[in-house]
Amino acid sequence: MTDKTLYQQLGEGAGIASVVDGLYLRIAGDPTLAPYFTETRMIDQKRHMALFLAAATGGPNGYKGLDMGAAHAGRGITDADFDSVIGHAAAALSEAGVDDETIGEVAAALMPLRAQVVTGETVDA
Ligand code: HEM
Repeated sequence: MTDKTLYQQLGEGAGIASVVDGLYLRIAGDPTLAPYFTETRMIDQKRHMALFLAAATGGPNGYKGLDMGAAHAGRGITDADFDSVIGHAAAALSEAGVDDETIGEVAAALMPLRAQVVTGETVDA
């Protein structure tokens, strides 16, 4: 147990930035996920994701981008894609030295976003 916020446990802004780098390296190397980002300026995307994650983990609320429904609408993202991104995030967190319990907390914080992100094939459709 710790009184630290999840944001602090992740190493605040610098820690999150390095995890986000690892996450998008993995996404770029994943032949199913990479095609979603062909038109994307990755430097902006990484900044938006880092700000979003800071806010979502109890850090400063500097995210000024679209809400998750609007950001992902019409992209045909599937449940399997969502699970892959969570898996890549867990691997990037682990590589950054984050312990398993904290990784589980980050995943739990992201899971409720599934319904807003997934607009393609769903498992239970
Ligand atoms: C918990 C999971 C996810 C989170 C927290 C997340 C977060 C974000 C954020 C913060 C943005 C930027 C919105 C803006 O610029 O205003 C974004 C855009 C985007 N996301 Fe996600 N996302 C998630 C899952 C996914 C998945 C599973 C995919 C597809 C594989 C995906 C594909 C995209 C694409 C293509 C964009 C638009 C990039 C562009 O502007 O060109 N996201 N996401």
